[in-house]
Amino acid sequence: MTIGVYDSGVGGLSVWRELRSRVSGHLIYFGDTAHVPFGEKTPEQLSRYFADSLAFFESRGCNSVVVACNTTSAAVLPRIRHLVKLPLIDMIEGAKRAAAAARVKRLGVIATKATVNSGVYQRALEESLPGSRVFMQAAPELVPLVEAGEITGPRVKRALEKYLEPLMAEEIDGLLLGCTHYPFLEEPLTELLAGRAVLIDPALAVTRLALEAWPQVQGSGATTEFWVSSDPEKFEAAAKLILKEELPPVNLRRPPEEDIR
Ligand code: DGL
Repeated sequence: MTIGVYDSGVGGLSVWRELRSRVSGHLIYFGDTAHVPFGEKTPEQLSRYFADSLAFFESRGCNSVVVACNTTSAAVLPRIRHLVKLPLIDMIEGAKRAAAAARVKRLGVIATKATVNSGVYQRALEESLPGSRVFMQAAPELVPLVEAGEITGPRVKRALEKYLEPLMAEEIDGLLLGCTHYPFLEEPLTELLAGRAVLIDPALAVTRLALEAWPQVQGSGATTEFWVSSDPEKFEAAAKLILKEELPPVNLRRPPEEDIR
């Protein structure tokens, strides 16, 4: 089985690192870096990028896709999912599961602007956590920092403090990472939360959902090929900083003419 893994850039690697140690078969990671950050794009733009990536995954022989991007999961999938032929796993189902398992009463969620604006996340979480409150916070400065491989230091700390402040004022007891770039900020986040709220990363829950949907891939030793839509060297450098390991050479697959910025 060949599984496509989709994100705007290095964020989806937080899901990929869970997948690769639990699945067999072949993974094709595609970071649409020509269009990062997705959080600043319109649902129409995001739908075009996703449709194009599906065509790419199909052309590479994928028979399923993990949408390792909350923004696409929230702003695109509810509109077009019924049109997609490939079986998909998305982030929202995983987030719901991970949040329910954490048994929190006041859940803070940090996510991109497009995810927050979609309203989809808040509704999904409120439905699956009856009796709990959900507080959404857009955190637009974080994706560019992670894309640059900057995951610690004063700029990261200042940005996180700004986004966590309104959530801490609501006395949250859990913080859900509603963007796949954010798990790479675990260290400064843990420090700032100082035990007052548990950190919830849906990556493992998403991987388990994939294994439930496609039990034939249960195993280990998956191989991966990496693709981006611009600047493979930048992706390789950032991936090395955030994963603390070297990726195999990353391939370039440019976006269609009309989608070049
Ligand atoms: N990592 C993606 C997400 O989970 C996209 C972030 C972005 O490009 O703004 O939302």
